[in-house]
Amino acid sequence: MDPQTLSGRCVALAVTGSIAAYKAVEVARLCVKAGATVVPLMTASAQRFVGAVTLAGITGQPVITDMWDAAFPGEAHVAIAERADILVLVPATADVLSRLAQGRADDLITAAVLCARGPVLAVPAMHPRMWQHPATQRNVEELLRQGRVTLVGPVDGQVASGESGLGRMEAPSEIVRAIERALESSVRDLCGRHVVVTAGPTHEPIDPVRYLGNRSSGRMGFAIAARAAARGANVTLVAGPVALPTPAGVTRVNVETARQMQRAVAEAMGDDLGKADALVMAAAVADFCVAAPSASKLKKGSGLPTLTLAANPDILAEIGRKRVASLASTPVLVGFALETGDDAAVLRQAIGKLDTKHVDLVVANAAHESLGHATNRVSLVSREGVGPFTRGTKENVADWILAEVSKRLRG
Ligand code: CTP
Repeated sequence: MDPQTLSGRCVALAVTGSIAAYKAVEVARLCVKAGATVVPLMTASAQRFVGAVTLAGITGQPVITDMWDAAFPGEAHVAIAERADILVLVPATADVLSRLAQGRADDLITAAVLCARGPVLAVPAMHPRMWQHPATQRNVEELLRQGRVTLVGPVDGQVASGESGLGRMEAPSEIVRAIERALESSVRDLCGRHVVVTAGPTHEPIDPVRYLGNRSSGRMGFAIAARAAARGANVTLVAGPVALPTPAGVTRVNVETARQMQRAVAEAMGDDLGKADALVMAAAVADFCVAAPSASKLKKGSGLPTLTLAANPDILAEIGRKRVASLASTPVLVGFALETGDDAAVLRQAIGKLDTKHVDLVVANAAHESLGHATNRVSLVSREGVGPFTRGTKENVADWILAEVSKRLRG
């Protein structure tokens, strides 16, 4: 994370009424220490948990508590939305998540969320039974579907009642990291860069009508291509067979098989890899193809066919080896590890792939939480460390990955 990310930025810190509200003071302190201006907003119930005077003292700013604050000649929520680079709800109660999911604007904080220009983060904190309640989960799903609010946590641990479970607020230092990540994502930091992205499955023919394939929808790779273009990059998207629209400003090359994908990636990156600044291999490349596909349709009358498989090239590993041989640090190489098993097993596989593929970053995710879903839960694994598993829309995940790519390109 760039230590300068928060410097000179304006963070609107909205505190709602959960006992975790006292930790918002630490978030404010860390943001101020990192050079940000923090504008504190509080609901009436938040003020029962933590004093407005404390937040005002830490931030050096008056605490705004209602829509009709005399400090604003016009509309307070519009003025706050204009001024803030990011709006963060710490903590976000079940009630405020519900009102955000509905698009309500009947208090200062929800109105400011609807009006926000920049990213909005909500950091839930509540009793685990409240978090697991179908109504809360429906609101969370709705917010993720809308894609305008990013949730940070909650995490597993002890809550105020002394019970344990998923509902505890994320630690203040992690919240500040999420704020920095979101701020880095809202910039056009890939201008002048060429980013090659692969997406979707590959289809390996058995005969002219049948193929070996997999369940990849291509949505993750398409989201990365779209976000990279939005961040200013020239993007080449090498797409396996999927029926998704081409994102704005992206050059698309359609392929069917792993070998075709390998050729298209080589073409986009150049023989010495010099034509690309980064490669993100989000495609689910088939590891095997049929050694000798039949030229005519296999007929069941001819008996059970025996398929002899042959290995496909490992596109990413070969490019990784090439980069190692060139001794260069670019292009930045990103792979995915889509695995089955629990979080620890997924991470073990992902860490192994850093070396077997010679890449800078591996996006670890569990198959049952990503294939075919609109959201994804990932951990970013690099030689510098293993990030926490965090859930977001595929666009959010794309931005987390691209923020890392951008950081590495800046050296
Ligand atoms: N990959 C690739 N070429 C292949 C297989 C995979 O470039 N033939 C890339 C994928 O796009 C992904 C990464 O390598 O970014 C990891 O893919 P994955 O299928 O998880 O790993 P494999 O190398 O196939 O290993 P295994 O399935 O045995 O875990």
